[in-house]
Amino acid sequence: MNLKLKIWRQPNASAPGKMVDYQVSDISGDMSFLEMIDVLNEQLIETDEEPVAFDHDCREGICGMCSMYINGEAHGPDRGVTTCQLHMRKFKDGDTIYIEPFRAKGFPVIKDLVVDRSAFDRIMAAGGFVSVNTSGNTMDANAIPIPKPDADEAFDAATCIGCGACVATCKNSSAMLFVSAKVSQLALLPQGKVEAKQRVLSMVEQMDKEGFGNCSNTGACEVECPKGISLSNIARMNREYLSASITGDK
Ligand code: SF4
Ligand code: FES
Repeated sequence: MNLKLKIWRQPNASAPGKMVDYQVSDISGDMSFLEMIDVLNEQLIETDEEPVAFDHDCREGICGMCSMYINGEAHGPDRGVTTCQLHMRKFKDGDTIYIEPFRAKGFPVIKDLVVDRSAFDRIMAAGGFVSVNTSGNTMDANAIPIPKPDADEAFDAATCIGCGACVATCKNSSAMLFVSAKVSQLALLPQGKVEAKQRVLSMVEQMDKEGFGNCSNTGACEVECPKGISLSNIARMNREYLSASITGDK
């Protein structure tokens, strides 16, 4: 395949950016999208040009680093996959592909396609954990019975990889799908119930501080989420938040 690429280039956080045209040739349909950018970067390095900066780590859909907008969609045109799992066979010879960073106030651009998603880390630090009693009387987690439906729902919520596609897709740049997945995975389990009220209040407070908007109720986040995180988590977080606010546990 021969492709025309239009890629957002921005030298640093404060400099203005612009779309720049590139051409790549002999791209195999079996390549991943990131491998296609690798080919472009090799070309650029050979001609002494600055390679395109993009985030990646695992390249197998686990780490959530490879966040970018491809033809106006977070992680591109396929469903249930991250950019690193997107195959070039989803495109046709002669296509023009627009590649941009995720755009949201809470995700400032660092360089080219790389954005700063440390806001998610701060939200997690605000409450996305279970405190462990190290008194010596800690109960073995496996000894605590958990109903199978609760375990399944908690596991589904826990598959969120923190990629930020939900934020980038939402017209309000809402982080509620991400935060609700993190709240739910713990709220559903007995181990997480102890700090549940404080957790939801603190995480939502930090989410608001980071500049993410409210849920738009359009459901675009669920559609673009590579892990199929359900909107029902947002409903659960809202219930948890309301209940914690009324009982004023914080
Ligand atoms: S909810 Fe989905 S889209 Fe949002 S951060 Fe988690 S995995 Fe990514
Ligand atoms: S590089 Fe890890 S999910 Fe894509």
